Amino acid sequence: MSSPPPASRTPRHLAVIMDGNGRWAERRQRPRTLGHRAGAKAVQVCIEFCLANGVEALTLFAFSSENWNRPQEEVGALMKLFLRMLDSEVEEMHRRGMRVAFIGDRSGFPEPIRARMAQSEALTRDNRRMVLTIAAGYGGRWDITQACRQLAEDAAAGRVDPASIDESLVQSRLGLAGLPEPDLFIRTGGDVRISNFLLWQLAYTEMWFTDLLWPDLDTASLQAAFDAYAARERRFGLTSAQVSGGAA
Ligand code: IPE
Ligand code: IPE
Ligand code: MG
Repeated sequence: MSSPPPASRTPRHLAVIMDGNGRWAERRQRPRTLGHRAGAKAVQVCIEFCLANGVEALTLFAFSSENWNRPQEEVGALMKLFLRMLDSEVEEMHRRGMRVAFIGDRSGFPEPIRARMAQSEALTRDNRRMVLTIAAGYGGRWDITQACRQLAEDAAAGRVDPASIDESLVQSRLGLAGLPEPDLFIRTGGDVRISNFLLWQLAYTEMWFTDLLWPDLDTASLQAAFDAYAARERRFGLTSAQVSGGAA
């Protein structure tokens, strides 16, 4: 077992379920897609806050593997918005020193989006300021399954000894391989569930939920989440005394 990472008051890695766009629009008697557009602005708020606070990695759940089953019209509108965001925002992210990455099954996305994903990753690959990972077409079960498949293929081909498969090897085949595990998880929109987000990686993540709808996200609510995180004691299975450096 690996030992727990050193305690830090600011999360190194923040993972977010950006939920509540549809309800935000419905409350205004507007189409759900308007909520998604408003949600895109909240993404900027979140990125700015993370950059200002020295967060190393930000992972945003943008579209789940289950979201493909929404009405075709909504999925189509989301794809258009996604493409527009990629076209309008990635250059600026690059200019600001951010690395952009995508996790998820890309096979369902239209070719122009897949091409933009690859271009964005290539353009920003050497940037070091903050890693922004967009989970799109992502499901935690898919992630673990594809890692298993890779390892099985490698074992069958003789590249991996099955006896050497341990947690760190599985981890190295997951979408977020190479990043520290998320320290803080935020879900907006009032629901208290993970919805097939990072099932493996959230094992010891601190969770913070708010009723605020994603388009209403502001700096004050993000600060409240960070303050709550700073006040938590992360024990990773140890006793409180062990963690605080007292009696073992
Ligand atoms: C989250 O907002 C964005 C996506 C899932 C794409 P929702 O669209 O789920 O909004 P609600 O939960 O219906 O309000
Ligand atoms: C989770 O939100 C996925 C994203 C925010 C992209 P959902 O709105 O799809 O989750 P459920 O359906 O309420 O669990
Ligand atoms: Mg939702």
